Amino acid sequence: VSSLKGKDLLTLLDYTSEEVQDLIKLATQLKTITKAGRCPKLLEGKTLGMIFEKNSTRTRISFEVGMNQLGGKAMYMHSRDMQIGRGEPISDTGHVLSGYLDAIMIRANSHEMVKELAEHASIPVINGLTDIYHPCQALADLETIAENKGDFKGLKVAYVGDGNNVAHSLVVASAHVGMDIAVATPVGYEPDPEIIAKAQEIAKANGSIVTVTTDPVAAVKNADVVYADVWTSMGQEEESAKRLQDFKGYQINDALVAHAKSDYMFLHCLPAHREEEVSSSVIDGPNSYIFEQAENRLHAQKAVLVSLLA
Ligand code: CP
Ligand code: NVA
Repeated sequence: VSSLKGKDLLTLLDYTSEEVQDLIKLATQLKTITKAGRCPKLLEGKTLGMIFEKNSTRTRISFEVGMNQLGGKAMYMHSRDMQIGRGEPISDTGHVLSGYLDAIMIRANSHEMVKELAEHASIPVINGLTDIYHPCQALADLETIAENKGDFKGLKVAYVGDGNNVAHSLVVASAHVGMDIAVATPVGYEPDPEIIAKAQEIAKANGSIVTVTTDPVAAVKNADVVYADVWTSMGQEEESAKRLQDFKGYQINDALVAHAKSDYMFLHCLPAHREEEVSSSVIDGPNSYIFEQAENRLHAQKAVLVSLLA
């Protein structure tokens, strides 16, 4: 996607619908040629720095493997080992890293911090999850849906659970490809209304709708895709007992998915808690695409890396 060279990826709200759709197509192309053993070394000599303030399995490994496959290198850094962990300003860190690296991928507690880093870095900054967004996840989610359902038009996604980072990015991503999305959360756990309003505008232009409800059955009704994330995100561990209570009735289980289309896809960004946000029967059942979805993190992020860096 040539128009993206040098750009940051902080949120898909900063991208046009066409750019998002092109990234998904490129992801599938890269997947096909990589599986045929012909991944082009488009990032030879390039280094991606990866900064983590939180744990990760998929994001860390898929970015590192993706850079390797494209002929480049990735460096893992935990923020506590860097001087930012001792209070060095983010702005100085952004300037300094721009002198060494070709891009930065960061998983951070605060989206504001990532924005500040991006303002001061002259190289692309890629959001690998913040408190508000998880755009790389949403790109892999779209890729998984496209590869199994063909077209996005006419599809409905149901997200049931916490109105969190994953929900926000999924809503924006769905709007960009003209898929209907319904989000069902308990009262007090709704997605950010400003993000929803922006997504609704994008969706309108693409002929789809974004709805928010407290009724999981209404959300899942006739859904083609049913999506879950954890009820307690990283950094919210102290609230987990309260959340377990508050999310009662929002588990995705056989009774709930009975309202979806019979060929619905179950998706979960992972890691998952079986028998909390989703029953084992659903997540380990025939309609679950979770491992294909996790693999697609690799392909979707390679599309991002190639588009921003090559
Ligand atoms: N889905 C996701 O981002 O997984 P990790 O936390 O393992 O990176
Ligand atoms: N909402 C979860 C997603 C993990 C990939 C979290 O932020 O912990």
